[in-house]
Amino acid sequence: MSTQVGATSHASDVKDPSLAAMGERRVAWARQSMPVLKAIGERFAKTQPLRGLRVGACLHVTTETANLMIALAAGGAEVWLCASNPLSTQDDVAAYLVANHGMHVFAVKGEDNARYYQHIEAVLAGAPHFTMDDGADLVTTLLTKAQEKVSGVIGGTEETTTGVIRLRSMEKEGVLRYPIIAINDALTKHLFDNRYGTGQSTLDGIIRATNVLFAGKAVVVAGYGWCGRGIAQRARGLGAHVIVTEVDPTKALEALMDGHAVMPMADAAKIGDIFITVTGNTKVLREEHFLAMKSGALVANSGHFNVEIDIESLARLAEGEKTQPREFVDQYHLGDERTVNVLGEGRLINLAAAEGHPAAVMDMSFANQALCVEYLAAKRGSLKAKVYPVPEEIDAEVARLKLAASGVKIDELTKEQRAYLESWNEGT
Ligand code: ADE
Repeated sequence: MSTQVGATSHASDVKDPSLAAMGERRVAWARQSMPVLKAIGERFAKTQPLRGLRVGACLHVTTETANLMIALAAGGAEVWLCASNPLSTQDDVAAYLVANHGMHVFAVKGEDNARYYQHIEAVLAGAPHFTMDDGADLVTTLLTKAQEKVSGVIGGTEETTTGVIRLRSMEKEGVLRYPIIAINDALTKHLFDNRYGTGQSTLDGIIRATNVLFAGKAVVVAGYGWCGRGIAQRARGLGAHVIVTEVDPTKALEALMDGHAVMPMADAAKIGDIFITVTGNTKVLREEHFLAMKSGALVANSGHFNVEIDIESLARLAEGEKTQPREFVDQYHLGDERTVNVLGEGRLINLAAAEGHPAAVMDMSFANQALCVEYLAAKRGSLKAKVYPVPEEIDAEVARLKLAASGVKIDELTKEQRAYLESWNEGT
């Protein structure tokens, strides 16, 4: 698992080192839309907050992630990176980080599960001081298969909702061994990345995979968290009739008052043209739903893991009759002449068939990541083995920097207004 690049030999596993030049151009393109991360990287280059420390990251290997890794390296970190999904790697980016930055990258688009976990273990072999996860596979593997490396870890970060849920279970069961910051829970992360990032990039992935017209279609969105809200809003913007399915009554009510139809999946299955799962749960679309679907239905997932669509039961119903009319489209032929199309093997469609969230939104998520690793380094030894929120000052600083970079000014409280907000005795 070692690629010779130029005169240097790095522990790495990438698809094709000759793609590096293309990766370089595309990473530079993304950087133009990441002013906050760029400013942090420039400060890191001067202050060196991560000098002599190793970051082990398990993230989607994209142009945006490359810019985060470059900022961390500018701060003095040695970077070890693997993919957080077998289908999300951009091979040119992986090649570029190895060739031009001497990073240890283990990621190949389309890798099978065995190679995916070999890559995670390769990153852990680098003995990281920090773990940076998107889905918690790195920390889970560390705690189960590489426990001898735990004592060297200062802290970790987690990018996504699903990963934070897993970490909270670890904390509850008393198996978490070091502090981890839940990046996902920062306002400047989920209000923008989950809502506008997932909203746009999910439709982008479905459109790139199929070239489908959304106008006039019945789009079923399973799950009305921040991602579901964003997808529903953008699908409506393209002229679709949106149906939301939920298990949480408050979220269902919100979807209703946002103007969407709300019903159980058993009913939605009969009328949907396009189905998108974003619940974080398993078997949201299953046999009874496939049996009810209209022929030609498109089925995609934008939740973190590929468990939301029960593809095994669909394959059973189709008795193995599957064709591939386009890249990223598996068409299952059911006995009654009907077809059901699964996009991107049920994996995150925005990263499998498109490029993930746009750089402008990852700018904020990854600014939180960079600032939280700096925070963990500064707090070394003083935090407990718990899931911590992003410190409020960091969240607010990211918003302030993003507004400034967008050329937007806002008002300040007057002295009188500040005093009014702090008082209690002035009523009607
Ligand atoms: N998650 C969603 N979109 C992403 C992107 N563009 N880069 C890294 N992680 C992501």
